Amino acid sequence: MKILFISSELTPFAKSGGLGDAVSSLAAALSKLGHDVRVLLPRYYFISKNTLRRINGLLEIDSARERHRAFLYTANLPNSQAKVYLLECDSLYGRNGIYGYSSNQEFPDNPERFSVLSKAAFALCRNLGWIPDIMQAHDWPTAPVPVYLNTIEKNTEFSGTAGVLTIHNLGYQGIYSRDHFAELGLGWEYYYGAGFEYYGNINFLKAGIVSAECIATVSPTYAMEIQTPSGGFGLDGLLRQRSRDLVGILNGIDTEVWNPLTDPFLPAHYSAGDISGKAICKEALQKELGLPIDPQAPLIGMVTRLVEQKGISEVFGRTYGCMRKILETIHVQVAVLGSGDAWAEEAIMNFSAQYPQFKGVIGYNERLAHLIEAGSDFFLMPSRYEPCGLNQMYSLVYGTLPIVHRTGGLADTVVNYNQDLGDGTGFMFDDLTPQAVYDTVGWAMWAWYNRPEHIKTMRERAMKQDFSWNRSAEEYGRLYQHALALRKAK
Ligand code: ADP
Ligand code: GLC
Repeated sequence: MKILFISSELTPFAKSGGLGDAVSSLAAALSKLGHDVRVLLPRYYFISKNTLRRINGLLEIDSARERHRAFLYTANLPNSQAKVYLLECDSLYGRNGIYGYSSNQEFPDNPERFSVLSKAAFALCRNLGWIPDIMQAHDWPTAPVPVYLNTIEKNTEFSGTAGVLTIHNLGYQGIYSRDHFAELGLGWEYYYGAGFEYYGNINFLKAGIVSAECIATVSPTYAMEIQTPSGGFGLDGLLRQRSRDLVGILNGIDTEVWNPLTDPFLPAHYSAGDISGKAICKEALQKELGLPIDPQAPLIGMVTRLVEQKGISEVFGRTYGCMRKILETIHVQVAVLGSGDAWAEEAIMNFSAQYPQFKGVIGYNERLAHLIEAGSDFFLMPSRYEPCGLNQMYSLVYGTLPIVHRTGGLADTVVNYNQDLGDGTGFMFDDLTPQAVYDTVGWAMWAWYNRPEHIKTMRERAMKQDFSWNRSAEEYGRLYQHALALRKAK
């Protein structure tokens, strides 16, 4: 099949979180199955042109304000046959940020930036003379793609192209004042007709959910959760209506990038068969962060966007969170890498200054993320909700036992410890409260000190888990067939 992904993020070109990783590794996996996979994303200012090739021709994309002229560049997705197209339009993307200069301040013209990207997908295909069978949007920024397929592109050369929308995170929907509607270039009949209307505003993701032939989300448990009032972010009713065409497909991970046997960021390599290199990674991590060098002290790692979704209040909240109590009452070391909400960054810096067994690094650092995954004994991920979550899978294959909230993809990938039998691959709690996080960290530390043989077998078990994309990429293949059949019937 010919498949075009349209995405705001694609690792290694542009990434703010798991979205970039997931889109990139799914594209590679589908391409490996023999599909002709291509990805369109903006050429943000920070993407160097050194490795890109310019394609002839100029794309013209109309928005309400003006006619945008864009150049196209192409590149290969590393280690893959999948092709990448980068849309260069400096008035929209020539900035050093994907969604904004910082995580709490969006660019005010994002509705235009991303509707132009969505529209450019069609101009790109026409330019290439390449009409895909599937156009797949990822999250709210490109959710207008299936809308265009069912409106202005319905009776064009795209009449046989099916639209698929993958929801990576329902918490971000792209909700804007209806004053921006004109920028989408659609008649007002589609404000209601295509599902944009949302309490008097426009909602990109909602329109995508209404319009896409099929909808995927990134784990089976999350697919159920988003159809309930507590997980639906106001869209659960609509998602229940679309449940026949909605499926949860677990993300895989890029096992070339995340592999403790080959990871170039690590000072030593290891595997389930010979785990000795992990101790060297732990020592390197302790040394780099300035933690006491102590192989016996259990080390808990965290790598996270510092946003409410990740359970940061329950951990770092000034009086509410449990971190102080953990540090005061349990013999552990903690290493945190993250960036995001200012209050949380400040709390982490304060803990670092106050407790020698706690070290936090604020910022985005790919290398350190790998070292924390490898050098830690446990990985704390108490997410309030988690559509899939990649870090717990990275942790598992690095032999670092996750301590997680039983939600979304965390519930689908971690198996809770059974202290009688020594079964499981991690430690879970059911309801997110500071006390539950504290108790579960305490439980894991109890096992570390009192059941070392269980920790050893859990590690080996965790490292043998298969999180490669093989099975999930095939499931997407079946979803595409379903989407094409629905498109034909329209
Ligand atoms: P989400 O996409 O919701 O942030 P995921 O677990 O799916 O959560 O993916 C997070 C990805 O972002 C992982 O690849 C993780 O290593 C990376 N990441 C998050 N914060 C940082 C950081 N401060 N430095 C380096 N990598 C980070
Ligand atoms: C989102 C979700 C995360 C998921 C990632 C990739 O960022 O928050 O759970 O793993 O997308 O699908």
